[in-house]
Amino acid sequence: MCGIFGYIGEKPCASLLLEGLRRLEYRGYDSAGMAVLAPTLSIIKAKGQIAELAKKLKSTTPTGTIGIAHTRWATHGEPNEQNAHPHTCTHERIAVVHNGIIENYHALREYLKEKGHHFQSDTDSEVLAHLIGHFAKDEPDFFIAVQQALSEVEGAYGIAAIKEGRDEIIVARNGSPLILGIGDGEYFVSSDHTAINDHTKDIICLEDKDIARLTREGYTIIDMHNKEIHRDVEKITWDIHKIQLSGHDHFMHKEIIEQPETVANAFRGRLGKTAVKLDGLEEFKDFPFTRIRILACGTSYYAGLIGKYLFEENARIPTEVDYASEFRYRNPILSSDELVIAISQSGETADTLEAIRLAKKSTATFGIVNVVGSTIARQTKAGIYIHAGPEIGVASTKAFTGQVTCLYLLAIELRRRTHPADYLSRREELLAIPEKIKEILSHEEDIKAISKVYARHDNALYLGRGLNYPVALEGALKLKEISGIHAEGYPAAEMKHGPIALIDENMPVVFIATGDEVNYEKVLSNMAEVKARKGKIIAIASKNDIRLTKLADHIILVPKTTECLSPLLNVIPLQLLAYHMAVLRGKNPDRPQNLAKAVTVE
Ligand code: AGP
Repeated sequence: MCGIFGYIGEKPCASLLLEGLRRLEYRGYDSAGMAVLAPTLSIIKAKGQIAELAKKLKSTTPTGTIGIAHTRWATHGEPNEQNAHPHTCTHERIAVVHNGIIENYHALREYLKEKGHHFQSDTDSEVLAHLIGHFAKDEPDFFIAVQQALSEVEGAYGIAAIKEGRDEIIVARNGSPLILGIGDGEYFVSSDHTAINDHTKDIICLEDKDIARLTREGYTIIDMHNKEIHRDVEKITWDIHKIQLSGHDHFMHKEIIEQPETVANAFRGRLGKTAVKLDGLEEFKDFPFTRIRILACGTSYYAGLIGKYLFEENARIPTEVDYASEFRYRNPILSSDELVIAISQSGETADTLEAIRLAKKSTATFGIVNVVGSTIARQTKAGIYIHAGPEIGVASTKAFTGQVTCLYLLAIELRRRTHPADYLSRREELLAIPEKIKEILSHEEDIKAISKVYARHDNALYLGRGLNYPVALEGALKLKEISGIHAEGYPAAEMKHGPIALIDENMPVVFIATGDEVNYEKVLSNMAEVKARKGKIIAIASKNDIRLTKLADHIILVPKTTECLSPLLNVIPLQLLAYHMAVLRGKNPDRPQNLAKAVTVE
C-alpha cells in the first residue's frame, strides 16, 4: 500500500505536497518523491522516510502550483531513489505516481522496450509512465492518452499523472482507493482523507474504473462506460487519527479486517491457470532439493509449522521447522540438497537473519517476507513477497495469513510438477478464500459477545489436531501477546498428558474442531474430557451437529474449505477473540507491553 497526493490551484505546492505525504506516511515509508510543473517538469525523490525528501527540498524547492507526490511501500523493486515514485516518460515529459500492483507489467515492459522506451527502475509502476507516453506521442489530449494506456493494464491501480504544458492532473482508480478534495479554486487527489482533511472537508470517492481530469476551474469524471458522471460530494466527519485507521479503533483491527484483500494480494498475478507463477522459484529449477527446512520466529514460526504440513501433504517433501534462535546455536546438520526457507514479516528479525546466514554456507535459501528490500529478503538467494502492505499492529495478523498463502502457493506448485491433474482444484479453492474470510468477519459481533464472557479469565488453553495444532499455537500467541491472559496452545491429544490437570470452570478451552471425520471424532472426545471437568469450551467448527452443541458452550462456525486451506479461515475468529478480549481488558492491542514489531536484537 502506498500514499498518493496531488494538488492543482494557485498556491506554490511543493511544501503542501510534502505535508500531504507526511499525513500518508503510515501507508508506506521506504521512499518518497514529488513532481511539480514549474512550469517545466521538476522531479525530486529520496530513499527513506519523508524527512529525507524534505531535506532535499530545502536546497531545491520547485515553485509550481500543479504537482503530484508519493510515499512508497515497495512491492516490486528495492526501496531506493531510482525505484521511488514519480516515474517519468522523459520523452513526453510525463510523470506518474501509482498505488497498486500492475500484474502484466512484464509484458508491457518488453513491448515498450521494443518501442524504444528506456526503463530506469525495477518497479512495475514505471510501465505506466512509458505506456501513457507511448499513447501521448500521437494523442494530444492527455486525458485520452491516459485512458488508452489504462485500457492495456491488468491489475490494481490508483494513479495521478501530469504532463509538461498541460494545466491539469489526470487521476484514475481501479482497486486502490483514490479520493478528490474539492477546495475553493483548488483541487486535491489523495489515497485517503488523511492528507485532504487540512484543506477541505468536501470529498469525492472515486469508483473503480473512474478517470478524472482536475483543472483549476473544476473537474470532470468519466466512468468505466466512458460516460461523464456526477459523483456526490461528501463531507469528511472523521478526525485525522481516525482516518489513518480508516475508522478502526486500532491498526490491529484494521489489519484483521483487511485480510480478504491481503490474502488476494498474496496470490494476485501468481495463480496461473496452468501453474503457479513465482519468480523466486525459478532460481531453483536446476536445484533438485529433496528436503525443506523452515526457519522463523514467533507467528512466522507457526506459519512454518503449517508449511511443513502443506509441503509434506501436497508434495511429499520431508520438511523440518526450526525456531531460528535454536537452529543457529545448535550445530545443525544441513544437507546440500536441502532448501532452507526463512519466513519473516519484517525481514529484520535478528535470529532469523543469523540463522539464514548460517544456512547459506551449506545450501540454497529462500525468503517469504513482507517488507520489500529488507535484510532477510536480500540475504536469501531468492524469495517471494507476501504483499500484505505495512503491518503496523505489533501482533501479526494479515502477515500470518499472507505467509500461509505463499506457503500454499509453493506447495501446490511443487505438487503440480508431479501431479498436474489436481492443480486446478487446489487453485479454485484458494481463489474462494477471500470471500470466505469476509463471511467470518461478518459475524464479528457474535465473536465479540463471546469475548465478553471470557475476558475476565487470566488463563486459556487452545487445542487442535493436525493443521489445527499450529493454528492453536497462533491463537494462543495472539491472546497472550495483547491481553495479559496466559494462553497456551497444545496438540489436542496431548491434553491428557498434562494440561488436563488445569481444567476446571475457570479454564476456557478453545478447540479448533474442523477437519476430516477422524480428526473431528477425536476432538469431540477431547471436548468430552474437558466437559467432564467443568471446563468452558469455545469451538471453532465448520459444521454444527448435535454432539458439538451439547459439548461446546460457544460455537463459532467457519465456512468449509480443504484441510490445507483451513488455517486461513480458522485463525480469523482467534484473531478477533484476542483483539476484543484485549480491548475489554483495557489494553491497547497496538502497543502490547514489552513487545516490539521487529525483534532486531538477539
Ligand atoms: C507475532 O504476533 C509477534 N509480533 C512476533 O511473534 C513475530 O511474529 C516474531 O517476532 C517474528 O517477526 P518477523 O515475522 O518479523 O520475523
